[in-house]
Amino acid sequence: MIRAKILGLGSYVPDRVVKNEEISFLNARHERQEEKQTETSDEWIRTRTGIEERRYVDNTRDVTTSELAVEAAKAALDDAGLEAKDIDCIILGTLSPDIHFPGTAVFVQTKLGIDGEGGCACYDIRQQCSAFIYGLEMADAFVRTGKYEKVLLIGAEVHSHSLDFTTRGRDVTVLFGDGAGAMIIGNQETDNERAGIAHTHARADGSGAWNLYLKVFDISKRPFVWYDASADGPGEPEMTYPQMAGKKVFLHAVRNMVVATNLALEKSGMTWDDIDWFVPHQANLRINEAVVEYAEIPKDKVLNSIMWYGNTTAATVPLTIDHWRKEGKVKKGDVILSTVFGAGFTWGSAIFEL
Ligand code: ACO
Repeated sequence: MIRAKILGLGSYVPDRVVKNEEISFLNARHERQEEKQTETSDEWIRTRTGIEERRYVDNTRDVTTSELAVEAAKAALDDAGLEAKDIDCIILGTLSPDIHFPGTAVFVQTKLGIDGEGGCACYDIRQQCSAFIYGLEMADAFVRTGKYEKVLLIGAEVHSHSLDFTTRGRDVTVLFGDGAGAMIIGNQETDNERAGIAHTHARADGSGAWNLYLKVFDISKRPFVWYDASADGPGEPEMTYPQMAGKKVFLHAVRNMVVATNLALEKSGMTWDDIDWFVPHQANLRINEAVVEYAEIPKDKVLNSIMWYGNTTAATVPLTIDHWRKEGKVKKGDVILSTVFGAGFTWGSAIFEL
């Protein structure tokens, strides 16, 4: 039987490290100012979220999400020993696309030098913090049905360009960072049901949609952007910046991540003895600590990276795994259980061999 397997993993974060202390002094172009712009503190951010620093793209030039995505993709291709031309499908998860349309995957394809007639299939998916596991489920199905043989799955975000650097937006702004992660998913012939990608599970509850959203435009309006969106103008903060009911998101995240984690074990017939690492989405260290407690996950199997990268949304899962692989903790062949939750609400889990 054909089963999907992970052939390569890669990640990319910009060089610029932004410590908690610096956030207070950044303006809308994330340039450091003399005067405080946002009332927040290292102490508040650390104790409520576990975040110590995050990465932002260079603020002296225009940087796009596809740029970060390509760096992660190249690293994953190298890791797999493949070239970009070997890829027959790209799935890109992002909530910060380069532009409204076309999707960002086609820009990635061009930057990888594999566009043109006969170019591979390109999908953009919009499942925010759950996008990587949603994408893994798609890649798994594509590969197992024989539709595609080598899928490039990427999660990439440039958040720093759409955050509200004033006290009004501080609850959201302090959480997010820029970054990208990628995997190459290929096929293998095996009768082992646990080989490669052993389990995926994706769910959503649209009644949670307005608890975490970013509008930017409203297609029902004539014209669909009717406000002054410039950072220095009066603006329309509800339109231009992410809106979040933090406590509700927190509670739903914990509940659904616990359910999704337990379901992954139940459906795959595995126990924690079969799993090397638990990699939760990185939205808030307190969410992950609660999930670990309620789902009774062995603490020495938990991998977090939010301290150094913040929430990179679609990129957190591959970025966390790659971070710990570079640290020498995670190794090829390790079995990972990953659980995610994000805007939508959307959530899911997967078990796979690295
Ligand atoms: N710095 C200082 N004070 C702050 C900050 C800040 N950055 N943010 C909020 N506060 C203040 C509030 O104004 C409030 O002050 P008040 O009591 O005087 O009114 C106080 O701190 C408490 O605010 P809460 O919002 O109640 O803080 P809470 O403990 O809920 O923590 C947080 C907020 C960290 C955002 C939390 O709710 C959370 O992590 N939620 C989930 C986030 C998440 O999972 N997002 C999903 C993924 S994102 C995606 O899918 C795109």
